[in-house]
Amino acid sequence: MYACRRLLFAVFAATCLTSKADSQILTPKPQPAPRVNGPTIYGARPGHPFLYRIPAQGERPMKFSVKNLPNTLQLDPDTGIISGTTPGRGTYNLRFKAKNKHGSSQRTFRLVSGDTLSLTPSMGWNSWYAHYSRITDKMMREAADIMISTGMADVGYQYVNVDDCWMNTDVGNDPQRIGPFRDDHGTIMPTKHFPDMKGLADYIHSKGLKAGLYTSPGPLTCTHCGGAYEHEAQDAKQFADWGFDFLKYDWCSYGHITPRTAPLPELKKPYATMGALLQQQNRDILYNLCQYGMGNVWEWGTEVGGQSWRTSGDLGFELSKIFAVALKNSEHRAFQKPGGWNDPDYIQIGYIGNARGGGLPAPCPFTPTEQYSFMSLWSLMASPLFYSGDMTKLDDFTLNVLCNPEVIDINQDALGEGANVLRLTPTTFIMVKNLEDGGQAIGLCNASEEQTSMTANWSALGFKSKQHVRDVWRQKDLGKMKQFDTIVPKHGVVLLRVSN
Ligand code: GLA
Repeated sequence: MYACRRLLFAVFAATCLTSKADSQILTPKPQPAPRVNGPTIYGARPGHPFLYRIPAQGERPMKFSVKNLPNTLQLDPDTGIISGTTPGRGTYNLRFKAKNKHGSSQRTFRLVSGDTLSLTPSMGWNSWYAHYSRITDKMMREAADIMISTGMADVGYQYVNVDDCWMNTDVGNDPQRIGPFRDDHGTIMPTKHFPDMKGLADYIHSKGLKAGLYTSPGPLTCTHCGGAYEHEAQDAKQFADWGFDFLKYDWCSYGHITPRTAPLPELKKPYATMGALLQQQNRDILYNLCQYGMGNVWEWGTEVGGQSWRTSGDLGFELSKIFAVALKNSEHRAFQKPGGWNDPDYIQIGYIGNARGGGLPAPCPFTPTEQYSFMSLWSLMASPLFYSGDMTKLDDFTLNVLCNPEVIDINQDALGEGANVLRLTPTTFIMVKNLEDGGQAIGLCNASEEQTSMTANWSALGFKSKQHVRDVWRQKDLGKMKQFDTIVPKHGVVLLRVSN
């Protein structure tokens, strides 16, 4: 009898625990039938190597096919990986199809072969806020494996990027990381934790993903590793030869060459230099300018070849202020468009390290509501979506926040607008993002310390008739409405998609 009661209690406790965790998961699990995801427009440069893994959720095995695939490209029908050479200039209207025993799904994909890359914000993972100087080749490969195995790649995450600390330093306790910055030929030297940079990029590519790395225009990176100063051309070529597809260029010690207060041409110079060099390589290399917003970088980021530019300092130091950071970033919305994006820094949810002490990954300081808010705000702003937490500790909740394809569709929308902000009170605001299909994404945002009732008043938003309203996190239609009233929790964002 006692044993039976104990069993009952155990079942009850397990149920409570499960339902608590489950109640935080708003999004229905992906169906076994295929669902093709990802951007509907994609820029690549003619004649360059092309690599794209069609993002598709659903049970494997799955068979992929592509309509109108240019003959310079090949598709692996089992993996959905397209490779080859980008065809000549022009727009190619492709149609992706994925099929399995449960059904099929299609999606259009406009391949624009021309000068402009990143027609939608880039998506991926960055090592910094999880691993700092602990990063190794092994962790990078593991991150690529996990991007596939968790389904992150099936909703569009694509870049696997190492941040600072892949190259030798002259400080610290780890002898594997200490060594000369360059060899006798002037080639930048990775740490012993990165024995084969080309092998690493090849490994990431073998999964259909893309590889990114980091350096500084200064002699030193922010953690005292070797930077690119006076070796820019050699490094740009080396990064391309290794096969990297993304470069983050971080100001760091460049302040010793040019003070931050220098005239604008001086602030632009190192970025223009590297931008031109990257464009000379026989690869599409996305270029992320990281100089914390100096000299109103949003006004000239595209001009120096950047596809994205950080609009402020490190978000890791400001995690208690994600609403304020989003509002500040949104002030520059007019300067972003397909090909060039404001970057308010990485998504730091799940397990993250401690930015101040470089500590080991631990649960992030956010409530579940705040984690949804983080992703909602970044999607509404059309910000690059880089997860920067510990991939080995991703749980169902974190994956559900990162991987809702309807939320990602808002971020990746082909129109490329950042949401307009309508301030209602000092702590509440509505964000409205126009979408390519004529609809809007709307976020009702409550940065206050208490839950509050909020209304999205259609006439204030410029709508003349009732609107179909969809709850994007729950993937649920709510009906046709004259206006939308809701209670938004403390630090919450209610994310909707509305259409006529
Ligand atoms: C700066 C950048 C961060 C990160 C670190 C690495 O602080 O803003 O994103 O790259 O350097 O040292």
